[in-house]
Amino acid sequence: MSTGIRILIVDDEERILQTYSLLLEDLGYYVRTASQPEDALRLVTEDKFDLAFIDQFLGSTTGLQLIEEMTKIDPELYYVIITANASADLAVASLKKGASDFISKPFFVADLIKSIDHVNQKRELDIRKKNVLLTLETQVNKKTEDMKDAYIEVLSSLAQAMEKRDHGTYGHCRRVSYYSNLIATALDLREDDKDELKVASLLHDIGKIGISDFILGKQGCLTSDEMRAVRSHPQKGVEILKPIKQFKSILPTILHHHENYDGSGYPYGLNRKNIPLSSRIIAVADTYDAILSNRPYRAASNHDEAINELIKHAGKQFDPDVVTAFVNLKDFSLDIQTKLPGKIQTLAR
Ligand SMILES: [Fe+2]
Repeated sequence: MSTGIRILIVDDEERILQTYSLLLEDLGYYVRTASQPEDALRLVTEDKFDLAFIDQFLGSTTGLQLIEEMTKIDPELYYVIITANASADLAVASLKKGASDFISKPFFVADLIKSIDHVNQKRELDIRKKNVLLTLETQVNKKTEDMKDAYIEVLSSLAQAMEKRDHGTYGHCRRVSYYSNLIATALDLREDDKDELKVASLLHDIGKIGISDFILGKQGCLTSDEMRAVRSHPQKGVEILKPIKQFKSILPTILHHHENYDGSGYPYGLNRKNIPLSSRIIAVADTYDAILSNRPYRAASNHDEAINELIKHAGKQFDPDVVTAFVNLKDFSLDIQTKLPGKIQTLAR
């Protein structure tokens, strides 16, 4: 007969408590009783119940008020309100407070059992609903993870395509991503902004895919047409990434990573805070790494020379606050293979 349901009965009439607890215990139910609201709250705190029968009139408080307090302690508890003065209003109020059923005094043990069966069915239905929701949530999470994986795959393919076109560029972008993240941390950027910056800095030069090998590898001065072609890479990058929805938020960063703080940069000659902060960060990280790298047209400089160059151009080419943050970094290391952030390491494989 018993369905393993654990029952609490709350009524200020001791006679009712004794009678019905004995009857229900005989039927195999686990039953506890309380004649005072505070005893009921203590029992719910100390023990685990599935169903509480609660008398509506409890002296200093009402059954509905007690439901409110008990729900705060155990939100999964089901309730049945018992009253000698049944009315439609009370029935509606009981259901509104979350009671699953409503029985009127005088009642018989058969009424209690009917109510238990009713609550049990409702409980099983709720459990089934909860399981379905849980399954759906798991499926949605899996789909989201799959989408994230696909997103990283796209990033990886783009970065590899760039590497094939311009040997060394991918390494450069990974280092720029690493330095940008250090600056962003020093400037106390939000975690989601930092995540976007990691991706944007990794792909900031993706537009170079659209520039010829001849121009990219040329030693000596570029003609004005060649220079124009090189300077088109921020817009080309945006064109490449624009069709992919997930890249939408990083497009301004990529478009403006060659703007100068004093307005002398390209493509739009934006100045100061009109340039996205993420672009101002990449500009510093990009230049630092470029100075430290061998290029077809010049030999690499060392760390101190690169830092001096950044300081020299702070307020002109670079945001002075970003340069200060970069110069003051303690965690400088070129051993970036072991220091790259997780997502970037995945891409680096
Ligand atoms: Fe660039």
